[in-house]
Amino acid sequence: MEILDGKKIAAEIREEIAQKVVEIKNQGKKTPHLVAVIVGNDGASRTYVNSKVKNCEAVGFKSTLIELPDTISEAELLNKVDELNNDDDVDGFIVQLPLPKHIDEEKVTLAVKPAKDVDGFHPENLGRMILGLPGFLPATPAGIVELLKRYKIETSGKNCVVIGRSHIVGTPMSILMSRNTEVGNCTVTLTHSRTQNLSEITKQADILIVAIGKPEFVSADMVKEGAVVVDVGIHRIPDDSKKSGFRLLGDVKYDEVAAKSSYITPVPGGVGPLTIASLMLNTLKAIDLK
Ligand code: GUN
Repeated sequence: MEILDGKKIAAEIREEIAQKVVEIKNQGKKTPHLVAVIVGNDGASRTYVNSKVKNCEAVGFKSTLIELPDTISEAELLNKVDELNNDDDVDGFIVQLPLPKHIDEEKVTLAVKPAKDVDGFHPENLGRMILGLPGFLPATPAGIVELLKRYKIETSGKNCVVIGRSHIVGTPMSILMSRNTEVGNCTVTLTHSRTQNLSEITKQADILIVAIGKPEFVSADMVKEGAVVVDVGIHRIPDDSKKSGFRLLGDVKYDEVAAKSSYITPVPGGVGPLTIASLMLNTLKAIDLK
């Protein structure tokens, strides 16, 4: 079994981006600028957004964190989005999800100008992805593709099973794995909460991508010997023995599934760092798409 080390690959990508930033600055061009908007006080979301901002600074980007209270109205948030859409200094921006219940996430996603949508959540970018046109790929699925590419995992003709059909991971992941591209050409099965005989299907997977959002959902009996397993889940489980007060678990029972896999992503240090790396790659791309 080999670990798909997302932390290591993300560090390589950061190195490459940092070099590009130096070139951009040497050419007298503007420093790439990413803005992250966070609404409310959710601890996990804050940790992720802080990490995004820190990573941006590490590669030489300008980055701005906009923190808004959870009492903000939908109209006020949409005004902020509009301001960022029209600010020439901002190359790309993200609004961290989930948003408070009184704000319609779909409205906010649709309000982001596609050319600055470095999360790749806007329907225009999703449509571009399906058609293979230039645009932003959703960060987590794109990060997983990059991880498989850099570990030279053969995907062509393989059976890929995706568990979970969210708009930000499962659904775009299934499309990327079925495209006629270097990482792709899989026969893809997208499974979800209504799927019957799930483990019969997952046992057919050469590549199993799990984004169901349930801690330790996938057990060893659901996995084929020698499968490549990608775990997108990240859950904070209260644990008094830890200084932080919690430990992190993925969607996969790591120890027993690792023993059966050819490759597996750990949690933490697997998919998470790649999501941030793709976000930064998208921000670099934003300059070219302008
Ligand atoms: N919430 C969980 N993942 C993401 C992500 O990739 N982008 C944003 N904006 N919010 C998220």
